[in-house]
Amino acid sequence: MVAGTRPNFMKVAPIIREIEAKGISCCLVHTGQHFDELMSKIFFSDLGLPEPDVYLGVKGGTHAYQTGEALKALETVYIQEKPDLVVVVGDVNSTLAGALAAVKIRIPVAHVEAGYRSHDIAMPEEINRIIVDRISQMLFAPTQDAVDNLVKEGIDSKRIFFVGNVMAQTLLEFVEAIDKELPEALSDKHLGDYVLATVHRAENTDDPRRLRQIMESFAELPLPVVFPIHPRTAGKLPKELKQLCADSGVYFLRPQGYIDFLKLMINSRLLLTDSGGIQEEALLLGIPCLTLRYNTERVATIELGANKLVGTDKGLIIKEARRILSEPKKSYPVPPLWDKKVAGRIVDAVIANSNLLEIKPQEKL
Ligand code: UD1
Repeated sequence: MVAGTRPNFMKVAPIIREIEAKGISCCLVHTGQHFDELMSKIFFSDLGLPEPDVYLGVKGGTHAYQTGEALKALETVYIQEKPDLVVVVGDVNSTLAGALAAVKIRIPVAHVEAGYRSHDIAMPEEINRIIVDRISQMLFAPTQDAVDNLVKEGIDSKRIFFVGNVMAQTLLEFVEAIDKELPEALSDKHLGDYVLATVHRAENTDDPRRLRQIMESFAELPLPVVFPIHPRTAGKLPKELKQLCADSGVYFLRPQGYIDFLKLMINSRLLLTDSGGIQEEALLLGIPCLTLRYNTERVATIELGANKLVGTDKGLIIKEARRILSEPKKSYPVPPLWDKKVAGRIVDAVIANSNLLEIKPQEKL
């Protein structure tokens, strides 16, 4: 199992549990793409993940540097460990490196969360998704639209498995198990209703005009905004803009662990985000979501009425947020197979289809 970033950890957790329950041995490799205590370590303790068997310490740098360093280091691990299968999740640079290093030395790859497409090639994750899906031997799709994308791209349907969303499994398990109090950082604030926001995508954080529009919209919303801040965003936010927001009811928090962020979502009235996974978590929790992007690969969230793309225009963000806040709370239909059996389906499918795991010369994928 290869993982490297915050949004990978909740996806590998139930799969590792399931693999081990079946008596199959599993080696967890952490590339180190995310490395801070609050971006990585806390997720291991929150999720009850075992310590990584191998930690590669690849951090920072450009896309090519990060992917290249992970590629080199992963190849060495694969040659030593000789796995029968490499499992990668999601769409981050560690996912790409994990798949590419394996298939080049003819170790088969299973991709969990296969088939999502934003159809925006300027998005680094879209490039990762397309390449990883093209070179994987088994593709585990979270939604029917993801299956359809893979079929349209000519992937052999015997390699595509519609299993549901593994991130949903983790969320549903935790929602049942945790208390729903606000995390400690806010427990003395008597917040009442609030909006929860996250912003970390480079096209938003690295474009000063966009970042300003987004942050000024937060400052002008009719409810307080709780804003756990990603290290990239913290580095880009001008002091004066941060102060303006802090003076206007924006609560800046450090990056939150899995459980505390879940509590923040559960208690919020509205989510504003440019993340991928949070769009889906909002749907599962019945919290409306406005996505600060111009496209999404998570199209089911839009089709089911739980999510709307608003981009980065301040006027539109405020208008849509006001509209939602004036409406009564709703719940949304949950996509098929977003349940607590996703990891079981994945591991069962691997066991039942080991014939797919051989990379044969002259075979078309
Ligand atoms: C990565 C993923 C993105 C995912 C996001 C979740 C890719 C292409 N992008 O983006 O899909 O939504 O993770 O957070 O893989 N940093 C730290 N400490 C950390 C991690 C990051 O300080 O623990 C800072 C570093 O300056 C780093 C920058 O954040 O260079 C960006 O990190 P990086 O992993 O390159 O991309 P993310 O924006 O986190």
